[in-house]
Amino acid sequence: MITIKSEHEIKLMEEAAEALKAALRAIEAEVKPGVSTMYLNHVAEEAMKKHGAIPAFKGVECPYRGGKPYKWAICTSVNDEIIHGIPSDKVILKEGDIVSVDLGTIKNGWCSDAGRTYGVGKISPVCEKLIKVAKDAFFAGVDQAIVGNRVGDISNAIQTFVEKNGFSLLREYQGHGIGEEMHEDPGVPNIGQRGKGPRLQKGMALAIEPMICEGKPDVYVKPDYWTVATIDGKMTAYYENTIVITDKEAKILTI
Ligand code: MF3
Ligand code: CO
Repeated sequence: MITIKSEHEIKLMEEAAEALKAALRAIEAEVKPGVSTMYLNHVAEEAMKKHGAIPAFKGVECPYRGGKPYKWAICTSVNDEIIHGIPSDKVILKEGDIVSVDLGTIKNGWCSDAGRTYGVGKISPVCEKLIKVAKDAFFAGVDQAIVGNRVGDISNAIQTFVEKNGFSLLREYQGHGIGEEMHEDPGVPNIGQRGKGPRLQKGMALAIEPMICEGKPDVYVKPDYWTVATIDGKMTAYYENTIVITDKEAKILTI
């Protein structure tokens, strides 16, 4: 069921998003060679708490049989890992790595969700390009997130932009509605056709999240039941924000 958020409910989501933005700033300040992904998790969780929010990812059910609910505040996916990487004391970032960080907050019962890929020190030109294309693909999608358009218009804009730049998109994972739950209807695929899917209405809140690959978009799940990585081992990048459909252009809550 697609829910429409009132002005007041959108204000509450903006408060959740403020805490998320503080966590993003805290993470960004710490991404450098020698830092563990568990440390990034720690600084993010502290920032969320300081802003009166709790991590939305803790307790999320594992999508795979046999896996346990997620226990951490953020996901940290390094290089060929694209999403759902688990923070670890043993994963130490080094010069040239790229780390995709995904996080969600809940405040006063309302959620926000966002993700970024950061370079660690100096990174290769292809990594620079991946990070830029993931971000610009998000904005190509947001340009279509207007009243009267359909979800497929967002999906198609993202797909067209990413493929034009020579990269590919994960098919198995998609964006989503968001509100009192982190994952609500409608699904927001990163691949699709113009004019297809649910119609966008004022007050819909969506998490739009292109997940892009340098090579083939074929992925596997690591034995931890969470981390999704590319089979060809090539690099990946990710960019996500929570947005709200308005009368005019979409409002981006998590930037
Ligand atoms: N941010 C992810 C999404 O957009 C959710 C991460 S799954 C979790 O769907 F278990 F890590 F929370
Ligand atoms: Co999301």
